[in-house]
Amino acid sequence: MTTSDDPDLPGYDDDAESPVTPAYLNSDGEVEAGLRPKSLDDFIGQPRVREQLALVLRGAKLRGGTPDHVLLSGPPGLGKTSMAMIIAGELGSALRITSGPALERAGDLAAMLSNLVEGDVLFIDEIHRMARPAEEMLYLAMEDFRVDVVVGKGPGATSIPLEIAPFTLVGATTRSGALTGPLRDRFGFTGHMDFYEPEELRHILLRSARILEIRIDTEAAAEIAGRSRGTPRIANRLLRRVRDYAEVRADGRVTREIAGAALAVYDVDGLGLDRLDRAVLGALVRSFGGGPVGVSTLAVAVGEEATTVEEVCEPFLVRAGMIARTPRGRVATAAAWEHLGLVPPPDLVFGSIEVRGREPHPTLDLFDGS
Ligand SMILES: Nc1ncnc2c1ncn2[C@@H]1O[C@H](COP(=O)(O)OP(=O)(O)OP(=O)(O)O)[C@@H](O)[C@H]1O
Ligand SMILES: [Mg+2]
Repeated sequence: MTTSDDPDLPGYDDDAESPVTPAYLNSDGEVEAGLRPKSLDDFIGQPRVREQLALVLRGAKLRGGTPDHVLLSGPPGLGKTSMAMIIAGELGSALRITSGPALERAGDLAAMLSNLVEGDVLFIDEIHRMARPAEEMLYLAMEDFRVDVVVGKGPGATSIPLEIAPFTLVGATTRSGALTGPLRDRFGFTGHMDFYEPEELRHILLRSARILEIRIDTEAAAEIAGRSRGTPRIANRLLRRVRDYAEVRADGRVTREIAGAALAVYDVDGLGLDRLDRAVLGALVRSFGGGPVGVSTLAVAVGEEATTVEEVCEPFLVRAGMIARTPRGRVATAAAWEHLGLVPPPDLVFGSIEVRGREPHPTLDLFDGS
């Protein structure tokens, strides 16, 4: 998706990306860092994870030891990295940051571990992407605060045990299912981050607006919250787009009307769907009578890669109750028809779909059998 064609408005600098992608964009840059909550009390939403973590951290403090290793799992942009920083902050510990893909060889991890000071928090982002040898080294480090460094090769190789300072590992993953069992078992606590309620996002937006010195009213914050797909990163990004609009086209104050008009320019509709989402829904409903239709067929119809449709559009459309995945293909729900301003066919029952008895679209088999 491209920038607004409007010469007045600042360009959207990740040309290929939609403003409602949950992934980190370069344009999020430093602004994101400034908007991160700094303490557990400052963190809005995720009440369960916050309460559980507060207990884990408090307990460790009372005992004067290091807390259990913590795994944070959940979709992108919900606050895993922010929470890792908060954990270190609450403990008054230094935070060392690395990521799964950066730990290609066990030696990379050994170097990192041997530099730790007692009580440090080691944050490994995308921990599910760690190479196997590094992961195996990590088992021992997590369990016994020890690593075995192998010196030499072949029959003469010896393994030298190396003590490491007691530390707390915080791992973050968007795919907890991709974690191996042994690694998962070594975390004393797992916090599952879930999508935020619009009300929580509204609070986050008001907080961000305060930090960025944006004048915004409550209804405008609610309007943006409703289009943010349950994701604080998206909410903060949309807030910046709306600010641009308010400054260029109005007096800088963000009202509900300004927010709505700004997001229309960026092709983000009332539910947070972007142009591609609507194209997918449109094809499903208009070209395929609501389905069932295979995802590859759908992708061809909108001129996108099947993986893009499957990984970028579908998760949100499914979560929003617009698309159902069935063994015979994708089906539009009544909500999808209505969102496009169309009347759902009579054999669609409420929001759910009556799939039985509906034949798959004839082109389905040309592409895939899903
Ligand atoms: N609870 C929150 N309150 C306020 N802002 C938040 C909150 N959670 C996340 N954010 C904002 O969203 C941005 C993204 O959060 P963060 O980087 O922690 O997400 P993440 O889960 O680590 O994402 P990824 O999986 O892409 O690494 C933060 O910079 C912050 O501005
Ligand atoms: Mg992160």
